[in-house]
Amino acid sequence: MKFFIDTAEVDEVAKLAEAGLVDGVTTNPSLVAKAGRDFATVIAEMCRLTSGPVSAEVAATERDAMLREADALRRIADNVCIKLPLTPDGLAAARRLSAEGTMTNLTLCFSAAQALLAAKAGATFVSPFVGRLDDIGHDGMELIADMVTIFGNYPVLETQVLVASVRHPGHLLDAARLGADVATVPPKVVWQLFHHPLTDKGLATFLADWQASGQRIPETP
Ligand code: E4P
Repeated sequence: MKFFIDTAEVDEVAKLAEAGLVDGVTTNPSLVAKAGRDFATVIAEMCRLTSGPVSAEVAATERDAMLREADALRRIADNVCIKLPLTPDGLAAARRLSAEGTMTNLTLCFSAAQALLAAKAGATFVSPFVGRLDDIGHDGMELIADMVTIFGNYPVLETQVLVASVRHPGHLLDAARLGADVATVPPKVVWQLFHHPLTDKGLATFLADWQASGQRIPETP
């Protein structure tokens, strides 16, 4: 499963890129507002940190205006992926952009029916928001299971399931168990994946025993 990083904080992506954990990046208008930096600059910097897709979301809601914004955004770098809401206009814009060879990510997906529409439009990715479904008492992972099954039934559909609104490592693991193509994960959750008390305890013991042994690792000549 690919890991995209869900943030508009370039420094966070840089740290994760050093750890080899960045297959792409997703942003959204709320994340960009929180980062408080120029949108185009953020996207350009992200695109230099990864060769994978960097999702940049349109702000327009009408098809032609979306296409104009998409044109400006895709000029920033070759790996910009245009993120569009899963509305009739968003879908129409995605269809056009996909036909032109531009990557698209249909966002705010909350049902398998919406996901099917995105796939039929030829979207590169569709983003089901599991955390927001859990928030209203639904089971976000049920949607992922449905999508993986439905897309698997029709190999002609090439749209990738991009699990979004990931709130904790359990979401990521469940998505991987179900065979989702990608998960977009906030930086904090990626770092949480390293945590295990037995790793910390085991390392402390090894280091103490090593110290007590008086052994040394030979230096390179
Ligand atoms: C996905 O592309 C969105 O940016 C993101 O995953 C939304 O997450 P949230 O529901 O935690 O805001």
